[in-house]
Amino acid sequence: MSGRRTRLAAYLDQRRRMGEPGIVPGGLAPGELLKLIGERVEAEKSVAAEKRARPRSTGPKAEADPKLSASRIANADYEDLHNAAMACTRCRLAEGRKTVVFSDGNPAGRLMVVGEAPGAHEDASGLPFVGQAGKLLDLMLASVALSRKDSVYICNVLKCRPPGNRNPMPDEIEACAPLLKRQIELVAPEVLLAVGSFAAQWLTGSTKALGRLRGEVYSYQGVPLVVTYHPAALLRNPGWSRLAWEDLQLLCRIMDSK
Ligand code: URA
Repeated sequence: MSGRRTRLAAYLDQRRRMGEPGIVPGGLAPGELLKLIGERVEAEKSVAAEKRARPRSTGPKAEADPKLSASRIANADYEDLHNAAMACTRCRLAEGRKTVVFSDGNPAGRLMVVGEAPGAHEDASGLPFVGQAGKLLDLMLASVALSRKDSVYICNVLKCRPPGNRNPMPDEIEACAPLLKRQIELVAPEVLLAVGSFAAQWLTGSTKALGRLRGEVYSYQGVPLVVTYHPAALLRNPGWSRLAWEDLQLLCRIMDSK
């Protein structure tokens, strides 16, 4: 366990024992979350500047791979699905990736978090949300007493990194969608949390901006769905962290009612 995790765990235990008002049992106070988010902003600024400087590639059109048909994916068990994803060449992103980023966390977890796509750190490690945005995601989850170790399963709309961290393209999302769809069926979470507009729009089927989607409970194939800002967006816009906190409270209310 890292020093930060140890300190956080000790902090949470202390708060839990104190039963401090206004704090989610086992979680952080809203002000504490805002402070932690603020601390991340400076570190993220240089990463964001570097990202903006990179050229945007459009690339050729994605092509379906007959070796990995949608019907094979739709009928896969978890292991087959994982293996199929690891060998996937359904779109152009297979050419530039180092690894396929399938998931992290507990497949038996109550909550499934769906993000956008792997970045450089995720592509190198094979795990989702391990960079700066991932650290903030872990803090957000800890603020409501959730962790990828125990209660959360994490994946992305795209399993491979778009070059230069550009936005996912519609045909890439379409090519990858059968994997995510089957992943959700097999994990069968109690609740879904979409972070960022790509996950939120795919899961809700809406094209509305995230700011207009958040604040409501949706249903994805019968699974309650909450949407919130992507942690990378929160790092760039710390003023949104109070809204993200409210989204997490909404998530908690749903989980508490289960
Ligand atoms: N952003 C995402 O949406 N997913 C990751 O895995 C990392 C960063």
